[in-house]
Amino acid sequence: MLACSMAIAFLCSTTVRTIQERLLAAAAAVLSLHALLIMWFFNRNGSSGFSSSSTAEEVTRGVDASGLTAIVTGASSGIGTETARVLALRGVHVIMGVRNMASGRDVKDAMIKEIPTAKVDVMELDLSSLASVRKFASDFNSSGRPLNLLINNAGIMATPFMLSKDNIELQFATNHLGHFLLTNLLLDTMKKTARESDIEGRIVNLSSEFHRYPYPEGIRFDNINDQSGYKRFLAYGQSKLANVLHANELARRFKEDGVNITANSLHPGVIATNLFRHNMSLANDNPIRVFLKSLAGLVLRNVQQGAATTCYVALNPQVKGVSGEYFSGCNLAAACSVSRDAELAKKLWDFSMDLVQ
Ligand SMILES: NC(=O)c1ccc[n+]([C@@H]2O[C@H](COP(=O)([O-])OP(=O)(O)OC[C@H]3O[C@@H](n4cnc5c(N)ncnc54)[C@H](OP(=O)(O)O)[C@@H]3O)[C@@H](O)[C@H]2O)c1
Repeated sequence: MLACSMAIAFLCSTTVRTIQERLLAAAAAVLSLHALLIMWFFNRNGSSGFSSSSTAEEVTRGVDASGLTAIVTGASSGIGTETARVLALRGVHVIMGVRNMASGRDVKDAMIKEIPTAKVDVMELDLSSLASVRKFASDFNSSGRPLNLLINNAGIMATPFMLSKDNIELQFATNHLGHFLLTNLLLDTMKKTARESDIEGRIVNLSSEFHRYPYPEGIRFDNINDQSGYKRFLAYGQSKLANVLHANELARRFKEDGVNITANSLHPGVIATNLFRHNMSLANDNPIRVFLKSLAGLVLRNVQQGAATTCYVALNPQVKGVSGEYFSGCNLAAACSVSRDAELAKKLWDFSMDLVQ
């Protein structure tokens, strides 16, 4: 607002004489007005009463979740760390599934320092290794703990072409397949918890608006490992489309079987986290980078806001019974039509089942 008023005042000022100065001021005023419009758009509350500017603490205020147990994958960084912190703040016993135990322990120590009553455990989980997923699930299931919430949060974005430990394209393997197997292996425990406690279980898949931009064929069932046609962002879009399809198919199965568990997917917003580590190839003073950075400043959210939609879907009472939906900005949103294709979701389920077996 201040920048806009200053630019307009500058434009009207009689001391501004040159055309360049006037053009510059006019451009600044237009950009500031755009910034105001964008900020208004992001800050306006949806029907939930929240917006993409709401924080994870705000959307869970007043919720007493003590007695619940959650697994948060990728809780050692970014959105996952904040999700784990806020769930713990609301009384949830949080199990952080992390591939780097040292950073997982650091996050846990920081959390307990801030919230001395927090119940937090760290367990090793590498989603790009089916053996690691099996070990994690087996250790968790044999611990006898209940499981109410599963937050499939971990992810990588736009990596160069790589294969997972099981020889599957790395983004598909990490973002979708590892979570697919993990969810399947934890389902009996979740179902038992929901039955015995009579409390609805919730599964939350972190997708992205990138789910709208996969390969032209959606999921490359016939050539998932094709290196020559590999496009790092389309491969990310493919894996994020799989996250939505996976949640939808889980929801369909739960409804069919009368299981008291919901499954939803979401876009957390755009947050500057370690996710962008493979996309920082432009030099710091590159004009494109400078332009993108200033543009990003208008739409970027912080991690407190980035974890809000996850915590809303995981804990807010408004979401009770809502399943097979896509959320963004702490509100229901429309996922792309491909991701709502029930046949495609079934096909992905069978394809994934074959791969993990
Ligand atoms: N940030 C955004 O703008 C944005 C936008 C849309 C969607 N998302 C989604 O939000 C989720 C969280 O992303 P973020 O932004 O918080 O990124 P982040 O800070 O990079 O966190 C990702 C987490 O996933 C973990 N991870 C990566 N590969 C793993 C593996 N093989 N096994 C286990 N854990 C693994 C990372 O562990 P390490 O710390 O060991 O690397 C890290 O803890 C992702 O699913 C992402 O696609 C983010």
